[in-house]
Amino acid sequence: MKKLIRNIRYFSPETGKPQIGNMLLSEGTIEGFTKETHLEDTQAIEGKQQWLLPGFIDMHVHFREPGGEEKETLETGSRAALAGGFTTVVCMPNTQPVPDHAEAVEDLLKKTQNLPCQVLLMGSISKGLAGVEKSNFELYRHPRFVGVTDDGRPVSSARVLMEAMDKAKKENLIVGLHCEDESLMFDRSINQGKISRKLNLQGVPVMAEALMIHRDLYLAEKLNSPLHIQHVSTAESVRLIGEAKAKGVPVTCEAAPHHFSLTEETILTRGSMAKMSPPLRTEMDVKSVRQGLKDGTIDVIATDHAPHLESDKTEDLVQSANGIVGLETAFAVGVTYLMDYKILNLQELVERMSTRPAQLLGLNTKGTLKPGMDADLVLVDLDRRWTVDREAFFSKGRNTPYHAMGLRGKVTTTIVGGEIRYNGEEGLFLL
Ligand code: DOR
Repeated sequence: MKKLIRNIRYFSPETGKPQIGNMLLSEGTIEGFTKETHLEDTQAIEGKQQWLLPGFIDMHVHFREPGGEEKETLETGSRAALAGGFTTVVCMPNTQPVPDHAEAVEDLLKKTQNLPCQVLLMGSISKGLAGVEKSNFELYRHPRFVGVTDDGRPVSSARVLMEAMDKAKKENLIVGLHCEDESLMFDRSINQGKISRKLNLQGVPVMAEALMIHRDLYLAEKLNSPLHIQHVSTAESVRLIGEAKAKGVPVTCEAAPHHFSLTEETILTRGSMAKMSPPLRTEMDVKSVRQGLKDGTIDVIATDHAPHLESDKTEDLVQSANGIVGLETAFAVGVTYLMDYKILNLQELVERMSTRPAQLLGLNTKGTLKPGMDADLVLVDLDRRWTVDREAFFSKGRNTPYHAMGLRGKVTTTIVGGEIRYNGEEGLFLL
């Protein structure tokens, strides 16, 4: 049956202007907009004057299955995605086993077939993420594999990376890079700077990220092969990538919500809940990441959703696991720290969370509200202020630095392929 989402605010896909109206869905796709509020043989969904946006797309999540199901499964991760307004996510390969052999790849493809949101995959650049030998990318000849990455670790060997870039280009796979020079990651705890000095930690310097980005931009230029730089965290990185883009180097990049909202000082109040790789940086870095998102140097927002057990997030910053969950707070962090700071407007935020990721991933039927597109949609109450309660997360992970913080903007309904999959009013998943 056709569906009519009534009384919504939306940006006209033709003019970009805000409108109030109704959207008609048919067989999992957007049929178009209409002035009619009652149509025969249609099921009505009340929009209540909320904004209807294309579903968010996250290029960077860790769902831990297989091997780390106690932290997150593909199912619990998908629910967290839906609760955060994400209709498509891309899982990183740092699982156990790594999907670098036929059996593991087949298993993963089977497990990701029927999930409540669209789950796409990245294979590994190197076997076992060890950085020594390139994985066999022919394993990734399946539409659900969109790229390769060793995320969590840099690819230290230039030879392995060059081989990977060459093969990935032929196989039409994105090459995602975690840019940190391993020899400068030291105790892998926090930013090297005034807070690390105060805490007597060595920390990770800005240079660790800059050195790898220098090398990788050089390779992208010389080989004329595209690279995607993951979780950009410093002003220096934004500057380097901006300069490369201006020269026409084929590079894209992403930033995580924590890198445009929190500084290294958060460690002092939130401890290891504010520890991730790359680490939170300074106020100046945060401002540069915001500016990069505004001017397009940074293409997309990606959460780096990284669930860990309570017991892995120890008081000892050096021993504690890296990473925080992000799917259920990303949109509100964007509204609060980008819109309320007058960096982006809603349309620009949607561009970074949906339209541009769809383009980078080659998802031609997603990321906009044009007729004919997949009905992957999210309704948001932009004005709703709420307090983050980590116990209410649908993710298994409770590791967030935003717990008890006030944010603006709440996802209320998530629709995948024309079906309501999450109804926030009732806290219900309709799977
Ligand atoms: O903080 C992080 N956690 N950064 C990464 O790159 C990997 C991730 C993880 O898998 O926990």
